[in-house]
Amino acid sequence: MMENNFTISPFTQFKNKKTDHSETKRSPADPVKIVWERAKKRFRDARGSHDWEHTLRVIRLCEHIGPIEKADMPVLLIAASLHDIGRCQQDKSNGKICHAEIGAEMAQAIISDLSLSEKENSNIIGCIRTHRFRGKHIPETIEAKVLFDADKLDSIGAVGIARAYLFAGELGARLHNPENNIQNTKSYSRDDTGFREFKVKLCKIKDRILTPEGCRMAKQRHDFMVIFFQRFIEEYNGNL
Ligand SMILES: [Fe+2]
Ligand SMILES: [Fe+2]
Repeated sequence: MMENNFTISPFTQFKNKKTDHSETKRSPADPVKIVWERAKKRFRDARGSHDWEHTLRVIRLCEHIGPIEKADMPVLLIAASLHDIGRCQQDKSNGKICHAEIGAEMAQAIISDLSLSEKENSNIIGCIRTHRFRGKHIPETIEAKVLFDADKLDSIGAVGIARAYLFAGELGARLHNPENNIQNTKSYSRDDTGFREFKVKLCKIKDRILTPEGCRMAKQRHDFMVIFFQRFIEEYNGNL
């Protein structure tokens, strides 16, 4: 089967973007490339809303925001490649297992044999542990902040809306449930609609973004969602 254009190696992407790894002093066995290959294999059975394509979009956002925020790009890109490797466990447990916590443990096993300094290693694990919107930990390093923002940006705007309905479809949720009070509905249920996700989570994301460039992008994506859902309700009610 032909691979689509978005599954090319990050090195090809870097050459077209701001980060050129040919100019870094890493050996040919570059940890970023090794992790990229290892991570990709872990997503074979992932659901569409949190699959390898999501990771690739997060990587592209990191490539955009990281250089602006002066992030350590190898650390950021390794963390971005691995940030959702625990997601399958969370989905299988219907949200009981935190994918950021278990993902950090899984990531440690994946990177332990690589030529990373202790500081790089702990930064990568910290990035993964703190990337979750509903998580308990706060991103501290600039790399953790950029990853947090990149991951959140992919859950809002046009892509975010598409993902919200993809996720709702994976759960067997309805298109919309206007007769139920959202406060009384549950996640991972038939009431976990795209509109519910917007009201309980997506509309709040722009106020949690941590970097200036992330904030600028989040505002645009947020404004688009507001317009979309206003129109969605009008169309649902037969007014437009
Ligand atoms: Fe995640
Ligand atoms: Fe993610």
